[in-house]
Amino acid sequence: MRVTELTIQSDNKQAKFHSIMQKWHKIFKNGPILTHSPEEMKQLGREIGKILHGGEVLGLVGNLGAGKTHLTQGIMEGLEVGDSAASPTFSLVHEHTDGRLPVCHFDFYRLKDESELYGIGWDDYLDRGDILVVEWANLCPNAMPHDTKWVLIEHQGPTMRLVTLDMGE
Ligand SMILES: Nc1ncnc2c1ncn2[C@@H]1O[C@H](COP(=O)(O)OP(=O)(O)OP(=O)(O)O)[C@@H](O)[C@H]1O
Ligand SMILES: [Mg+2]
Repeated sequence: MRVTELTIQSDNKQAKFHSIMQKWHKIFKNGPILTHSPEEMKQLGREIGKILHGGEVLGLVGNLGAGKTHLTQGIMEGLEVGDSAASPTFSLVHEHTDGRLPVCHFDFYRLKDESELYGIGWDDYLDRGDILVVEWANLCPNAMPHDTKWVLIEHQGPTMRLVTLDMGE
């Protein structure tokens, strides 16, 4: 491949990267988002689901009942996944291939240790380029790739949750 082609390819890659970042920044333009209800959390998830282009890894962090699953359900809906309600609480991962893009929903809460994660083929999931949405990703931080988009959810009262995006920039 010639240098000019390589340059164009890398310019395209950069342009794509910037347009994706802009979409995330548009959602979180005013910084952290306060959601006032489970429905609002799902709505935020839908907005995120709509801008995903494939291969993103999202690490969802928050205490028990913070709203990680609600956010995930919204993301699934934004990706037009049919059976978005399924929760992986009792299995480590649920794979959805009927939406706009393939997406796998993980929950690390029930992982015994990191080796269990590699035992179910974590590296393959990363290589495949599916979107990965990981609840309790903070329990296995070393397994998460460098470009993970971290979404932190904090309780702010019975029905209020603060959602912060950390792209590690
Ligand atoms: N603003 C809000 N956003 C999301 N959930 C909310 C909100 N307000 C109240 N809730 C309630 O909080 C709970 C969130 O549950 P959810 O299963 O989504 O949390 P989770 O973070 O996935 O918990 P777990 O750690 O057990 O997996 C639900 O009972 C929901 O009705
Ligand atoms: Mg959950």
